[in-house]
Order: sequence, then structure tokens, then C-alpha cells
Amino acid sequence: MAAPIYDKSYGKAKIATHEFMEYESEKLNKLIKKLKQDGNDQIAIDIGCGTGRHSFVMARHFKTVFAYDFSPNMIDEANRIRRDREIQNICFFVNDFEYEKLIDEQQFYGKCDLVVASFGMGSFVEDSNSMLRRFYDWLKPGGYLFISFYNANSITLNVTPTWRDSALVAQIDKDNNSLEVNLTPKTRFNIFCKLFDTGIEGPINRIFNVDSISTYPMIMALLPNNLLENEFAHAAFVVADKTLAENKAGQNGYYVIVTAHKPPQATSGYSNVERILQDLNAEYEVLEHQPVLSMEDVKREVGPLAKCIIKTLLIRHKDTEEFVAVLLQSEKRLDMNRVADLLGVNRYHIHFAREKEILQLNLKREFQNETGESL
Ligand SMILES: C[S@@+](CC[C@H](N)C(=O)[O-])C[C@H]1O[C@@H](n2cnc3c(N)ncnc32)[C@H](O)[C@@H]1O
Repeated sequence: MAAPIYDKSYGKAKIATHEFMEYESEKLNKLIKKLKQDGNDQIAIDIGCGTGRHSFVMARHFKTVFAYDFSPNMIDEANRIRRDREIQNICFFVNDFEYEKLIDEQQFYGKCDLVVASFGMGSFVEDSNSMLRRFYDWLKPGGYLFISFYNANSITLNVTPTWRDSALVAQIDKDNNSLEVNLTPKTRFNIFCKLFDTGIEGPINRIFNVDSISTYPMIMALLPNNLLENEFAHAAFVVADKTLAENKAGQNGYYVIVTAHKPPQATSGYSNVERILQDLNAEYEVLEHQPVLSMEDVKREVGPLAKCIIKTLLIRHKDTEEFVAVLLQSEKRLDMNRVADLLGVNRYHIHFAREKEILQLNLKREFQNETGESL
């Protein structure tokens, strides 16, 4: 519905939205430049690419760009531009990121230099945890994520201006998790919108190393559009909003942009445990032993089982194919009904992960010793 007028209309007339698009592009360009300088310029992904606003910029710097959007009209338009400009290194696909496996996903699994989900795309996905895990899996160690959301702390949600002439194209409806998009006076629609708050920030922090979080614009989001049509007011508010965006104390802009990267070297479970024990100043002893694959092996290697020994069991959900690790005291048996209850799923939809499924998780590095030699 939006594709034919997306490039012509979106944000052009509404100044706060237009300024966000510019601000976001500036930030993305800086990141792309850095990646290129560091020689990380092979594969980039654009999720919710629309008509390819950022995909085309990425294609100038990366060897290959994979770009996805679930709207066939957006992808048709993107492909038309690609053909006109005779660009060879972008593949545009019609794909629903949230509910489908992406075409060619296996080509970039663990290999991406950059994943982009721009212009609020992070808010259009319901299951943000699974979105973040997928992005993590696609990235190579040290690869970057550039993602933006609509902000639950936007100042606009506390102030209701009386003018109708908003400088924003889309209005957040916090109570209904939705966004009212006013593309033109005749093209209006509502879409799902999950606002950025600590529920999203926490998982990002847990999985990635966060480089920056900025919110933009704040003042312009409150003002009437016709005020910003005055060039002096426009210039002054852009400076004010850019200053606020870089200020950690005032994160009340309309959109949130997060730049984060996958830790350069996947840390092993062993070194994570060791680091936590050291951070806690805990007394501990390291027992060197042969690999153990069952509790019988543990008894043989470590001696009688102490209560504090725990075992890790991997459960898999048949439909979502997600894994859940259950930690249990060594001598206890797992009650699958209880696990199903805790997960809120049907008992018959979960099972113990099979060996070949665990191997697909590529956990090999977890079983390497300090010198990287496989055990
Ligand atoms: C606001 S537009 C952003 C377009 C582009 N990234 C930009 O910055 O101009 C969001 C785009 O995400 C697409 N989109 C939303 N949910 C999606 C999903 N689950 N899978 C694929 N595309 C999706 C929409 O069709 C739309 O084109």
C-alpha cells in the first residue's frame, strides 16, 4: 500500500520524521565507514529494507547485501531502482522476517559484518528476544548490529499538544502497542509497535556489547510542522535535538537508535564461570578431569556426588525449534510436565534435545581448552 508513495512522501513533508531519517543515515554512514576501514566489508543485511534506502548505501561498501521486506510492492520498487542503477551486489527478497526462515539465510549465518534494522523496524517485531538471538547468530564475532525502535520514554507520551499539525508522520499509541501512520491525508494505517524500554534494552545488553544508545528527536517531535518550516527555527531545533540525543541523561527522543556488536571472541562457558567466581571473590578449586557425558562419568571422575553439583539438560520445542537449558541438582530426575508448565507450552511439544540437534548448535568451542585444542 505504501510502496508507490514511500520514497516520494515518507517523512519529506513532516520535518521531525525527515530529520530522524537524516540523523539515522548519518549514524549508519559513520558505522559503515568504520567497518570498511577495519576491513569488515563482506556481508551486510538489511531487515525491513523498504525500497532499499539503506541497502543501496550499504551496497557501495560491502561485497554483498541481502535485503528483506515482507511487502512485495516495496521489493518491486527496490528491484526497479536496482535495475535502473545496474547494481549487481544486492539481493532483495520478499520475506517475513518474524514468521519465515529467510531465503539464503544459511549463506550468512555467523558471517555478517553488519545487520541493519532501521527506521523503527525493531519495534515492528513482536518477539524481540528471538529477533536479537537471530541477529546475534548471523553476525560474525565483532560484527555490528544497527537497530532502531520507537521509544517508550518519548516526551511526546507525556505531553499532548493541542495542534493537529504534527511534525511526525507516525503517532505512537502506547496503550494499544500500535503506531498510527499518516502517510498522506488519504493513506493512513495502524501497525503493531513494541516500544523500546528496559525489556528490550536488557536482552540487548546481555547478548551484545552496546556501543551507543541515542534517542532523537525530542523537541521537534513536540512542535507543529509549520513552525519547523521556518528555516531559522528548523536549524535551531536540529542543533538542540542533536545535543540532547548525545546526552545520556535525557533519553526522551521519539526514536531510539542502538549500535552494538557481537563480542569479538565467543567466551567459553568455562571462562564465564571462572570470571563470575573471581568477581564474587568466591573460594574455589578446579578439578581437572576427562570429558564427562553422563552422571555416571561424573561419579567416576569427581567421586561421590555433592548436592551442589548440577547437571544441564537441553530441551527443545518442536515447533519453534528453540532450546531451553534446564539446570537440575545432579541426583534429581526431570519432570517434563513441570517444564512444560513453566514454559507455558503443551507437554507434547517439547522433548530432550537430540544429539544431532545439539551438534547443530555448534558448541564445539565450549569444549576447547585454553590453547584452543578440542577436548
Ligand atoms: C519504516 S519502514 C523502513 C524501511 C527502510 N528500512 C528505511 O529505513 O527506509 C519498515 C519496513 O519494514 C517492513 N517490515 C515490517 N515488518 C516486517 C517483517 N516482519 N518482515 C519483513 N519486513 C517487515 C515494512 O514492510 C516496511 O517496508
